[in-house]
Amino acid sequence: MLDISEIQTIEHDVLVVGAGGAGLSAAIECSSQGLSTGLICKSLLGKAHTVMAEGGVAAALGNVDNRDHWKVHFRDTMRGGKFLNVWRMAELHAKHAPDRVRELEEWGAVFDRTKKGLINQRNFGGHRYPRLAHVGDRTGLEIIRTLQDHGIHQGIEVYMECTGLDLLKDGDRISGMVAMWRETGQFIIFKAGAVIFATGGGGKAWKITSNSWEYTGDGHAMAYEAGAELIDMEFTQFHPTGMVWPPSVRGTLVTEGVRGEGGILINSEGQRFMFENIPERFASETADTEEEAARWLAGDKDARRPPELLTRDVVARAIRKEVKAGRGSPHGGAFLDIASQRKAEDIKKKLPSMYHQFKVLAELDITTDPMEVGPTLHYMMGGIRVDADSQMSQVPGLFACGECSGGMHGANRLGGNSLSDLLVFGKLAGVGVAKYIRGISNLAGIVDEEAKVIIRAATAILNRESGENPYLLHEDLEENMQSNVGIIRSAELLLEGITNLESLKKSYKEVKANGASQYNPGWHEALALRNLMITAESVARSALMREESRGAHTRVDFPGEQDEWLQSNVVIHKGKDGNMVVRKTDRQQPNNELERIANLSIDELEKEVAGEG
Ligand code: FUM
Repeated sequence: MLDISEIQTIEHDVLVVGAGGAGLSAAIECSSQGLSTGLICKSLLGKAHTVMAEGGVAAALGNVDNRDHWKVHFRDTMRGGKFLNVWRMAELHAKHAPDRVRELEEWGAVFDRTKKGLINQRNFGGHRYPRLAHVGDRTGLEIIRTLQDHGIHQGIEVYMECTGLDLLKDGDRISGMVAMWRETGQFIIFKAGAVIFATGGGGKAWKITSNSWEYTGDGHAMAYEAGAELIDMEFTQFHPTGMVWPPSVRGTLVTEGVRGEGGILINSEGQRFMFENIPERFASETADTEEEAARWLAGDKDARRPPELLTRDVVARAIRKEVKAGRGSPHGGAFLDIASQRKAEDIKKKLPSMYHQFKVLAELDITTDPMEVGPTLHYMMGGIRVDADSQMSQVPGLFACGECSGGMHGANRLGGNSLSDLLVFGKLAGVGVAKYIRGISNLAGIVDEEAKVIIRAATAILNRESGENPYLLHEDLEENMQSNVGIIRSAELLLEGITNLESLKKSYKEVKANGASQYNPGWHEALALRNLMITAESVARSALMREESRGAHTRVDFPGEQDEWLQSNVVIHKGKDGNMVVRKTDRQQPNNELERIANLSIDELEKEVAGEG
């Protein structure tokens, strides 16, 4: 007989789930607003995908090129997102990012410096000017370190190696969450007036990914189960440059900073193929000759950017095309060459982690030899639908920020915008929660029956006599997503993907983990698999619905962007019968001023912001 009063219960005003940059930022803000704040993480504090944003944090500080301005950053972000971004989110992001970077500096982040002693900024794909404040190629790591150091002095209670299982509600309102200590397998109930998800993405549904084991779409799935909507899940970002060799490290990120520092992409015929892949939309802003690109590399501010710094969707597709055409590198990628472009000492200074990573993992010296790189699933643009200003979902008391929330990046995220996103919206989520908590008279109650259902579903995986192996199911899921819901999609592939997912869901009903509940990786794997499958299904179904190609979503059967789809979001929710419902909804219209800024030519915008001084 399960007695809920026997389960450990802890109460906070707000529970933040996920301790990467978004979770830490949100927790710091909640705590500074006087809220009792709990922060749980599946792993050890500091182990987060934030560190995989290596090359920098995007903010229009204008330290390296004083023509930069929030309006230019906003315009770049909208164009990178193929105009599908939630306008208000892109506006808030561009306006607030500089303050968040300066705040980090006050909290102790040690950014690289210009000769004048200002925070240094580098080039990145899709950004008009050098905009990425960075710490060599370890920017995410420095951000996490800074937030952690700052956060531990704020009175935040941190619960490590603790996995969230599902949300608790009292009526419509969030009342807490059931979680599990990974070490002992014991359950814990968090009672909280609000929950903020900052759980990152679900890259572990794909075979080749830069994501580590924690990224199993937990926030997406728990929010979906609690009645929240997921928006534009079809947009999954394949970072163009992951390691392709040796197999043990396939998918590991090779920072865009390599191209930002001048690295070029070449095929097996020695051709710099990105010049052949400049989309019309970008033609006027990107170099179309090697001479022009060389001027840029030599520091000529007025030269146009080389096409290696086109947006990630474009570069990833171009590499795939070279491989398909038989012009790939020996292990199925392209060559990324920085050795011919920069002096060895500069490479070691600007890209120390990459130097070390290739030396140790691939026995290759990037100061003398080109790297082999190929696309790797890196980021999900889609996510939990939230209000742009408060970050609250449709479920009262449930908030989301960072990668697990959707809308900010539209159809494709610009590199470096994830770090600024998590700082900006982490803080705004904290502000939103504080307002929400002040507006409710008391914490909602825990409904014992709900908690029991969650706990019984988790223990059933251990208590079955026999069943399906969770590791094998996960492998099948990865194969399926990689082959059928990858960079290039079609109705035929997606339907096959969905059929396979349906059959995996059936098998999952019989999933069985051997052994007891104390530190049991098989059980953890099985629990995470539910979340991965919900996330994967939402991607596949959304991708089937969006009958156009836009940004990171490429349909061979529907080439090109369609105006009709520019007006639409694809939204997922859980139907009353328990099945996933996917629908096309009208997008929120922009205000005229934002639309005007996004549509200005760069010359017009440069004149306008110069006039603002
Ligand atoms: O390539 C990188 O350093 C990744 C950055 C990002 O995803 O924002």
